[in-house]
Amino acid sequence: MGSAGEERVFHRVTLLTPSGERTLLVREDWHIWDAAQAKGIILPALCHQGRCLTCAGQLEDAGEFDQSDSASYFPADREAGFILLCTAKPRSALRIRTHRQHEMRLYRRRHGLPAPYS
Ligand code: FES
Repeated sequence: MGSAGEERVFHRVTLLTPSGERTLLVREDWHIWDAAQAKGIILPALCHQGRCLTCAGQLEDAGEFDQSDSASYFPADREAGFILLCTAKPRSALRIRTHRQHEMRLYRRRHGLPAPYS
């Protein structure tokens, strides 16, 4: 958390969920999953550590995010636009399709990377 008076940067995050599209403003130091939950958008999750892939989403457009809080995230994941929402912090406006755990596990297996629960 920043100190009082420190400028807080927000980014517009659009979530394309199975029940429709929702847009919210997410602070740069917030995890997107938590920001969504605070708005009543409950997304899948298990570990909340960036390991299990349950919360996976995928970018629909180019965008920047910080995934350094994740326990397990690879350059190949980023190349394919996969994002672990439980531990991702926005660095630009983002447009994200949610509920992509199945696709991310398939992709990981194809690339010889860890794919828990698959
Ligand atoms: S909830 Fe496990 S990776 Fe996000």
